Amino acid sequence: MPKIVVVGAGVSGLTCALLLAKQGHAVTVVAKHMPGDYDIEYTSPWAGANMLPMASEKDSRWERRTWPVLQRLAAEVPEAGLHFQTARVLRRAVDLDAISRLGDGLFERNPWYRTLMPNYRELPASELPAGVHSGCEFTSVCINTAVYLPWLVGQCAAQGVRFQRATLKHVAEAAAMHHLGGKADAVVNATGLLACRLGGVMDSKVYPIRGQIVLVRNEAAGLMPTVSGCDDGEDELIYIMQRALGGGTILGGTYTKGSWEPNPDPNIAVRIMKRAVETLPELTGGKGIEGLNVARHGVGLRPGREGGVRIEKEVIDGVSVVHNYGHAGWGYQGSWGCAERAVELVEEVVSEQAKAKL
Ligand SMILES: Cc1cc2nc3c(=O)[nH]c(=O)nc-3n(C[C@H](O)[C@H](O)[C@H](O)COP(=O)(O)OP(=O)(O)OC[C@H]3O[C@@H](n4cnc5c(N)ncnc54)[C@H](O)[C@@H]3O)c2cc1C
Ligand SMILES: *[C@@H]1O[C@H](CO)[C@@H](O)[C@H](O)[C@H]1NC(C)=O
Repeated sequence: MPKIVVVGAGVSGLTCALLLAKQGHAVTVVAKHMPGDYDIEYTSPWAGANMLPMASEKDSRWERRTWPVLQRLAAEVPEAGLHFQTARVLRRAVDLDAISRLGDGLFERNPWYRTLMPNYRELPASELPAGVHSGCEFTSVCINTAVYLPWLVGQCAAQGVRFQRATLKHVAEAAAMHHLGGKADAVVNATGLLACRLGGVMDSKVYPIRGQIVLVRNEAAGLMPTVSGCDDGEDELIYIMQRALGGGTILGGTYTKGSWEPNPDPNIAVRIMKRAVETLPELTGGKGIEGLNVARHGVGLRPGREGGVRIEKEVIDGVSVVHNYGHAGWGYQGSWGCAERAVELVEEVVSEQAKAKL
């Protein structure tokens, strides 16, 4: 049985570990942070998370391959912590130029995902708020990350995956940490943002994209609205999503490239809350921002990467490594597609090694 060490217990590492174990590999997960931790170095717990496809059509494989799994989990596996919600994507008239210039997949006027996401419809003019050029709705999911990450751990445990808490300095250390002893056949590198800070060859292309959120106890009426822009600055976003199983509602947000600031900024928090009640007055039954019941303010750092996600194999100091990091703001909605590709690469590594031994 091939021995694989997965470094990282965010959504990327856990999903890889689960798929590898299901393919019959003996898997050890080694991680500095685990589900249950809330740490600025650990992105996954801070995500909403929902699925609002944002890739270009050319790069849509990860999201296309992930949606059927998320859909099945929402429909059939209540304990995973997903539920169906109606995504509403609004394109402001003033943002149209920027949308086409940036090639922003989510806000495109005729998006590729209209054939992927169920119940897609363009909104009639009568349903559009002032200043909004056009918009669409479709069925998507919201993932309660506080339930989903532990659920993934449990699924892994049921498949025989072992977990080890450790901070690694180098890949070679990872290869020596398999629970069956000896040297691992392959190491999966799912270290997220820390891929730029730790290890032998640091990836200087990886950078943080800061996201501040407010978690409230108010309900969002089954809707997940998002708007193409706002008047509070280029780094500020509007999105709202209610988590399954009493997880509260996430109000977002910000998208600040290069910022490592771990503390919530109170002025940003007020702007986020104001925009949320303007976008979805149902949140507080018309009572405005005063009607919000705040559970927590939070900051997460999305693992950005120049050139995009890195899913490829490499031999580092004699260790076969399969990289799977740099998922920016789409790590959940691409998780199953990326893990599937990482597992293909692990299979290639393992069969090359088997041939070399003959
Ligand atoms: C505010 C916010 C909102 C978001 N909303 C969404 C959304 O709606 N939908 C969506 O799809 N995505 C969303 N994202 C993006 C998503 O959260 C990330 O893409 C995803 O969590 C990245 O996961 P990861 O497993 O790659 O990294 P992480 O979750 O950061 O995990 C990295 C793991 O590697 C471990 N590690 C790193 N270095 C070492 C080392 N040297 N030794 C041992 N262990 C190590 C860490 O301890 C950790 O376990 C959002 C992000 C933020 C911040
Ligand atoms: C992960 O990749 C980064 C960037 O190449 C590297 O610095 C780090 O050593 C790798 N970690 C592991 C455990 O493979």
